[in-house]
Amino acid sequence: MKIMEIEGGRELSGTIRISGAKNATVALIPAAILTDEEATICNVPEITDTDALCDILKLLKVNVNRASESLVIDPRAMENTEIAEIFSKKLRASYYFMGALLGKFKKAVMYFPGGCSIGARPIDLHLKGFEALGAKITVEKNKYIVEADELKGANIYLDIASVGATINIMLAAVKAKGTTIIDNAAKEPEIVNVATFLNNMGAKIVGAGTSTIKIEGVEHLNKCFHEVIPDRIEAGTYIIIGALCGKYFKVDNMIPEHVDSLLSKLEEMGVKLEIGTDYVMILERNNNLKATNIKTAVYPGFPTDLQQPFTVLLTQAHGKSKVNETIWENRFMHVPYLKELGADIVVKNQTATIIGPTELKGSSVVATDLRAGAAMVATGLKASGTTTITNVEHILRGYEQIIEKLTNVGAKITLKEI
Ligand code: UD1
Repeated sequence: MKIMEIEGGRELSGTIRISGAKNATVALIPAAILTDEEATICNVPEITDTDALCDILKLLKVNVNRASESLVIDPRAMENTEIAEIFSKKLRASYYFMGALLGKFKKAVMYFPGGCSIGARPIDLHLKGFEALGAKITVEKNKYIVEADELKGANIYLDIASVGATINIMLAAVKAKGTTIIDNAAKEPEIVNVATFLNNMGAKIVGAGTSTIKIEGVEHLNKCFHEVIPDRIEAGTYIIIGALCGKYFKVDNMIPEHVDSLLSKLEEMGVKLEIGTDYVMILERNNNLKATNIKTAVYPGFPTDLQQPFTVLLTQAHGKSKVNETIWENRFMHVPYLKELGADIVVKNQTATIIGPTELKGSSVVATDLRAGAAMVATGLKASGTTTITNVEHILRGYEQIIEKLTNVGAKITLKEI
């Protein structure tokens, strides 16, 4: 078992370089099997979610080579085998193989995906989309068999603007006959990144990044070279850490526009920022932060994935703040641990009320899920004394070289095997 130990209370200063986006990478890897030639993806983060998807590629006899930050994926000799639960349960995004295999072979057999326990996380919208394209779905306990004689373009309205369903339907529709229109599509930058990748291969997708996406099916997809966008959630997490403990703390190689909602809230709270074209710098520490309220929403609203680390910052603001979580039903699992360290927080009906500022004192905490884990790291860095985090496997799924990046800006943080 791995644990993280943090000696908190230190001022952090220096530069953190942001890696490729996890939530784009986990869709781009399954999407790569759609090419009839070879796909090269660069700026791929070295995180355990990437490894888990490469294991699925290998299971499907896809040739995959990693050279530095690039992955070269050649599916020419691939076989459409069943994806066993041991592979699918490692991460939520394994479900993108459902759309990609359906799009390529008109058949996918795999088990229900895993991932963070932050809510019920159904996949009904993905399945409804596949059905609209002509697929028949059989569910045997946890196993999904999705197959079609022919995939035909369709008009699909998503009841919820789901990121996963939007991408999965795009993957299934890219080689379908005729035109598919996804209405009320999600607009996250990762969706645009995946659509650009497919278009680079020869797909005909327009409207990604808006709520209507139009896909004209094509027969072949070619060789392509593609770059993963910077991770806006990793960037946002470090910006929050900078607001908590930083001075001349630069978060570099990012797209500030992708975290606009966060930056506006930080400015409202009184965090002194310099916003460049590809960086955000926290200029100085402000011990008089103002309380604020946030409500999570689909992009470009305040991202649910930053809500947990942001709650930590709110424990240091003067007055009463509120965090209203609207996307996931079970995303306050970090709160009991924050309270143990000294925070004053009450959760009622999907809203956390935080009274600050409160002193935080190091203790033993658990990373209950990926972003709760990021919140625990932020807490440990701010708290006085030592914080020990268990279940850190969750954190390593999504943050590349987190120990090295934080050590470089002056944090005392170690990863230990016990
Ligand atoms: C993605 C992100 C995740 C982020 C979330 C919301 C990845 C790998 N993960 O997750 O980090 O927190 O977007 O920004 O990109 N829903 C249904 N039925 C469905 C699909 C979704 O009811 O078939 C509901 C979900 O339960 C949830 C909401 O829709 O309440 C949004 O989910 P969705 O956007 O699909 O999230 P993910 O793609 O799983």
